[in-house]
Amino acid sequence: MTSSSPIVAIYPGSFDPITLGHEDVTRRTLRVADRLVIAVAHRATHTKEPLFSVDERVDLLREVFAGEPRVECTSFEGLLVEFARARSARFIVRGLRAVSDFEYEFQMAQMNQELWPEAETLFLTPDVRYSFLSASLVREVARLGGDVSRFVSPSVLERLKAKSGAGR
Ligand code: PNS
Repeated sequence: MTSSSPIVAIYPGSFDPITLGHEDVTRRTLRVADRLVIAVAHRATHTKEPLFSVDERVDLLREVFAGEPRVECTSFEGLLVEFARARSARFIVRGLRAVSDFEYEFQMAQMNQELWPEAETLFLTPDVRYSFLSASLVREVARLGGDVSRFVSPSVLERLKAKSGAGR
């Protein structure tokens, strides 16, 4: 790898939906990478009942990062390491909010390294304001009619309202 080749990072996840915590991790990644590919997985390790389809989640990501030319939003099928290798990614980025995230993240990082020894996972800590925030909690609060406007971007809030009546 020469110093002139752009540093490409992959930020994989479910992003159902993207939260301000994900946005914070994205901004932090752009300080250490030239380009970032945010990739919605068709198959997540912990399968949950999705609220948004994969295409809807990619659309939301694109809306949120419309003004950021260094961010590409897409989805991928199959193994993350195959996708990362095909995109010549220098590293995979994951947000680490608390110790409770660690075991799951550590297992995934090591499995990815087994599958592709060049796979490097970079863990970034989001701002403390988002340390409790997860997409699953946002989905639940929104489904039950709670106000999630402090946790997601306006375009995401609109789609959540349309989908589940959030913020009524
Ligand atoms: O936001 P999530 O659901 O915690 O993200 C998990 C994700 C999508 C990063 C993980 O499940 C994944 O990489 N899925 C793709 C399939 C794969 O490579 N599985 C093996 C992971 S070690």
